[in-house]
Amino acid sequence: MKGTNQAKVLIADDDTLVREAVQKILRMFGHEVVAVPSGEEALERLTAELDLIILDINMPGMDGFETMRQINRRDLGIPVIFLTGVGSMEYAVKAINLGAYDFIPKPIEDLDIFNIKIRRAIEKRMYVLQERAYKENLEREVRAKTAELADKNRLLEEYSRNLEVSALNTMLTLQTALEEKDMYTAGHTIRVTNYALTIAQAMCLSAEESAVLERACQVHDIGKLVIDVNYIRKPGALSDEEWALMRKHPEIGANIIKPLSFMQQELFIVRHHHERLDGKGYPDGIGGTELDILTKIITVADSYDAMTSKRSYKVNMDTAAAIAELNRCVGSQFDPEVVRVFSEVLHKKRKTGVAL
Ligand SMILES: [Fe+2]
Repeated sequence: MKGTNQAKVLIADDDTLVREAVQKILRMFGHEVVAVPSGEEALERLTAELDLIILDINMPGMDGFETMRQINRRDLGIPVIFLTGVGSMEYAVKAINLGAYDFIPKPIEDLDIFNIKIRRAIEKRMYVLQERAYKENLEREVRAKTAELADKNRLLEEYSRNLEVSALNTMLTLQTALEEKDMYTAGHTIRVTNYALTIAQAMCLSAEESAVLERACQVHDIGKLVIDVNYIRKPGALSDEEWALMRKHPEIGANIIKPLSFMQQELFIVRHHHERLDGKGYPDGIGGTELDILTKIITVADSYDAMTSKRSYKVNMDTAAAIAELNRCVGSQFDPEVVRVFSEVLHKKRKTGVAL
């Protein structure tokens, strides 16, 4: 539409005289006119480009009402004016129910009133178009903003995941550096992780539980970073004082992890990886059901590695002796089910000659 003075109007009237007269008048007002003799042809010429439709009511074939019903189905928001020869109440009600915008009596006698009615209808069309454009624009904007937000969210999530990974990697690097300083503890973390995950798998733990267990194993001795490594590397047994300091490492490790909100489950495991089932462990002396399955697994894995690795203050046990020792401490130090499962796996591996 170029404005209220230059609209595109469709008129359907089977009466050639009326049709041509209306067409002439509309053109005189500056509008573009499509004139057709039937409702069927009006529907054929129906497009969203139209600004106004003028329909005769009584037409052979499809009458004006049926034509309007079909027009309504297309939902183009084009106002419809009926041309009425007879002023019947029944017609008026029907037309209003169909959503007709106005009536123009035939023959058209007062051009000014006709012009006003046409202009009003065209103005209504402009309003509908503006409203639709505004709505579409708004919807487009909302869609674009939603997509933008989703993108930002994805980026933030990725960023936070990266931060988590790099925080964990930093700790791993530190822990590995610490272990590598001492020939006795080199590879301890990797082995404990390996044992613990083997047990988790044999116990059919979920992927999420295994992931937590893996991260906890990787940082379980991170607290030793703060302890003078000379203690750990020192040949011979540790003094009581040195042991007291060593026993602080689970607590220190938990404090190191504390600021990492994504590792709160791991924090519990790190803090309690030297607890015992009978509550005689450290640092908190908790036991039994207070210890979760992941903590029970890491205590077995950690102790098994300590038994089978050479330390500065002791000789290492072989697999059979370590299994026997684990079983001896079932109920007091270790969870029976974890030890049973791990012993089974170790036996199987020993028989098949596959190293764990
Ligand atoms: Fe430890």
